[in-house]
Amino acid sequence: MTAKKKIYLDYNATTPVDPGVVKEMFPYFTEKFGNPGSDHAFGWDAAEAIENSREQISRLVNCKPTELTYTSGTTEAANLALFGFCQKNKKKGNHIISCKTEHKAILDTLGALENRGFKITYLDVDADGNIDLKVLENSITAETILVCLMLANNETGLIHPIKKIAQIAHAKNVYIMSDITQAVGKIPIDLNDLNIDMAIFSSHKIYGPKGVGALYISKKNKIQLDPHEFGGGQERGLRPGTLNVPAIVGFGKAAEIAFFEMDSESRRLLELRNKLEALLSKIEGAEINSKETNRLPNTTNIGFKNIDGSQLLRRLNMLAVSRGSACTANTIQPSHVLLAMDATKEQALASLRISLGKYTSTEDIEFAVAQITKTVEQLKTATV
Ligand SMILES: Cc1ncc(COP(=O)(O)O)c(C=O)c1O
Repeated sequence: MTAKKKIYLDYNATTPVDPGVVKEMFPYFTEKFGNPGSDHAFGWDAAEAIENSREQISRLVNCKPTELTYTSGTTEAANLALFGFCQKNKKKGNHIISCKTEHKAILDTLGALENRGFKITYLDVDADGNIDLKVLENSITAETILVCLMLANNETGLIHPIKKIAQIAHAKNVYIMSDITQAVGKIPIDLNDLNIDMAIFSSHKIYGPKGVGALYISKKNKIQLDPHEFGGGQERGLRPGTLNVPAIVGFGKAAEIAFFEMDSESRRLLELRNKLEALLSKIEGAEINSKETNRLPNTTNIGFKNIDGSQLLRRLNMLAVSRGSACTANTIQPSHVLLAMDATKEQALASLRISLGKYTSTEDIEFAVAQITKTVEQLKTATV
């Protein structure tokens, strides 16, 4: 019996680990197993590997290696950055500005801060997912301490003008933090030039292992955080505990590979994404979300009219694509991102996020188009 073909088109959710990354990690499980905190040859080897990775990662996002703190991923980095910053700066004010289309890693952390007395403004977006920069500027009050906005949206791929947003915030003496998780490795990022104060990202979106990420804290803007975990003083006391050396080595190698491959790979993916969109647009009632915006080259989010969206993913069982929504207690939730963009619940449920990556081929795209076209047409007849 031959295995059924399954096509992975959910690279924004996570990526397979690059074989070159696995190879690099391997010795750090076995012969190079030392604790980077130990003062002997095994420890020194591990400590050197940690710093080598920091350099590789800093090159990809153009910052100083010493501006990076390792975490277990973006979610932990978001908690450390937001709680650490708010605790340290609460005497200056208690207001934070963010947006309705942020990832849950940010929204839920901000929710926890709200429960502790902070006030959060969640900016609206237009039908394409853009925020209004004038509204952002006018939302800044004497109490505002932080603007928290992602660089690229994980569901639509929309890229916010973060450099301009940083200028607006800094002109009013407000700091800015950005979730750059989806942009890293897909578009060039120059943290020094963007002039943001904090940024957070994860290894598993760039063909590195899961469970490792980083918090960038700009030295230039003299930002300070209170630690909110305590222990052995690792990572300058901000994120104590023995570091996950193999994962960090993998993160560094993945960053190095991304640094060299990004240009050609982004061009290739943009071509494939455009082909995908052109073919899917032939389906009557298909509409691409955030189409007229500056977007990541690998991402498309497409909605289909007059179908029962709850059936869409189930019927597309040969494809790994996503609805960009969470499935909680067996009830399918419409995407909060698409709802914020004024989609109805039905439209949001009948939308797909398709994200391409380095193992996506033209054949995969053609297969996906055939599957989606057939399924959408079947669901249309089912609802007549
Ligand atoms: C934009 C964005 N922020 C945060 C996260 C959470 O990252 P992690 O799984 O590393 O905690 C993700 C991953 O889905 C993401 O896409």
